[in-house]
Amino acid sequence: MRWLTDVARHAGVLLQRRGTVHGRVTPAASPAMPDIAVIRDAWQRSHAVRLPGLLLSAVPEYVEAIADALTIMRRVRQGESCVDILDEAVYQQRLQPDFELLATVHSGHDAQEIEKIAFDAVKSGELFAEDLWMKVSCLSFFDEDDSIRFRFSYGMEMFKNQEDDPLRERLAAELAGRVFPECAVITDHAPLLDLLQTLLGFRPEFVERIIYSNAPQGGAQFHQDVEHGHHGVIYAQLHGRTAWLALPRAALLQEIGQFVRQAGAASAAPDARFRDLPTATEALADMLESGDQEELELLLNHTPAFTRQLIEHGWGLTLQAGDVLLLPQHSTADCCWHSVFCLDEEPGHSLSFALAEPS
Ligand SMILES: [Fe+2]
Repeated sequence: MRWLTDVARHAGVLLQRRGTVHGRVTPAASPAMPDIAVIRDAWQRSHAVRLPGLLLSAVPEYVEAIADALTIMRRVRQGESCVDILDEAVYQQRLQPDFELLATVHSGHDAQEIEKIAFDAVKSGELFAEDLWMKVSCLSFFDEDDSIRFRFSYGMEMFKNQEDDPLRERLAAELAGRVFPECAVITDHAPLLDLLQTLLGFRPEFVERIIYSNAPQGGAQFHQDVEHGHHGVIYAQLHGRTAWLALPRAALLQEIGQFVRQAGAASAAPDARFRDLPTATEALADMLESGDQEELELLLNHTPAFTRQLIEHGWGLTLQAGDVLLLPQHSTADCCWHSVFCLDEEPGHSLSFALAEPS
């Protein structure tokens, strides 16, 4: 992805999210598929790994499922209840007899939650596992951001670390595949499975599945996805395009430090507002981890000059339908931080699964 200067302001694609226009970019021509040595090296160094066009030949098989998912997303955006949608014959056929749709439940602690639906898993007519759920959420409170996501998991959200239940984790993943059959574009893709086996040393389970629909003005702010027992995240773009800023945590800390030092030398707004942020890596790391630092959040997510710096230093990339992105998440200190932008005028469709070692 290349940053465009003002001279070319009528060219390229607008990079904007939640009311902040970051600039214009041009997606680079599709790169070649990296070989396994390059992939392994990038993975080990916590760099994002793009696998361009890997799913292109598989996507046509799932065209109907993808179109159906886009319809579900549109209906949810129009205010329809997801529990009513999933009660329709077409979805009940996918779920029955293995998953029993129960009711909407309210977690009561998540203002972004639109609807959370509980399911039981059933085997031979008997209750097999309970408290599986699908949660529909918005991604921000910005009025024009229509991004939504469907997350599949189990048990208590707030105390996830205390619940280590591989069976229900697997069943929640299967539930995602019933509601959104296009999950199989990843889980049944033999060359991708072989590649992951070679990279990780095991054939991963695809858990904590999230189906994303990034919409104009939407996407995700800078974050990491480190979770106990998970090695990283696989993201697949099935419809539409996204732009990403993705870099190892150590590189992000360096980039912030450099930006703040330059801001310290600036006398005029807007960069001068960051002059009081620390430049030392350790102090910045503490701020990054605390997740509640208004100035740092502003710098990371709403500062076009910082976005430009990251892109000019090679940390930007774009994805189109059929592309896969691997995001290594080795540990909090050694992971790939990332930020996502929608590049289209319509909402897209993508999959994001955690890579777990089979129990
Ligand atoms: Fe993420």
